[in-house]
Amino acid sequence: MKGEPERTAASDIGDVRMKKQVTIRKMNIYDIEAVCGIEVLCFTDPWSREAFESELSGLNPCFYYVAECEGEICGYMGIWHIMDEGHITNVAVHPEYRNSGVGRLLVETTINEGIAAGLKAFTLEVRSSNDSAKHLYEKCGFESAGIRKRYYENREDAVIMWKYLQ
Ligand SMILES: CC(C)(COP(=O)(O)OP(=O)(O)OC[C@H]1O[C@@H](n2cnc3c(N)ncnc32)[C@H](O)[C@@H]1OP(=O)(O)O)[C@@H](O)C(=O)NCCC(=O)NCCS
Repeated sequence: MKGEPERTAASDIGDVRMKKQVTIRKMNIYDIEAVCGIEVLCFTDPWSREAFESELSGLNPCFYYVAECEGEICGYMGIWHIMDEGHITNVAVHPEYRNSGVGRLLVETTINEGIAAGLKAFTLEVRSSNDSAKHLYEKCGFESAGIRKRYYENREDAVIMWKYLQ
């Protein structure tokens, strides 16, 4: 039996389009199985269970949050805390929950947690072909700042994006 995970005060906003309540809270080890299930649906090079366990071990400063809808994990996001910068490691929403505002809620809430912890800027890499992700990040205030040529395993370029606090 899983223990009731600790809720954060991060956000608890119903999504109008889905007409369901979506809650953003800190990821815990009981979430990893569901997170890995979404990870394999979303990425050709998914992170392993051990990778998420390592992230949640507390050895390195980072933030991991999940989106929960009617008791199901429907998305997650991570940020490494490096100096006063937040380096976004992964953002994913289960295919059945996309285009309903979950991604934006996750990114905005997790970034706000980072800002509260003192982060001054945020960065990420995204595949140049990933229009949905680029659109999401632009909506959240990120701007393209350069290209890493042939960054991915299939030699696709990465777009580097940054968001600076005003
Ligand atoms: C990228 C991803 C996280 C977006 O999640 P989502 O929950 O569908 O995003 P949202 O519903 O919050 O949409 C945010 C904005 O992006 C837009 N958007 C979403 N999908 C889009 C698409 N395929 N094309 C264009 N715009 C899109 C939405 O319309 C919305 O804009 P709006 O506020 O003007 O309506 C999701 O598609 C995903 O998990 N993709 C696979 C994993 C991935 O690529 N992660 C990013 C790695 S860098």
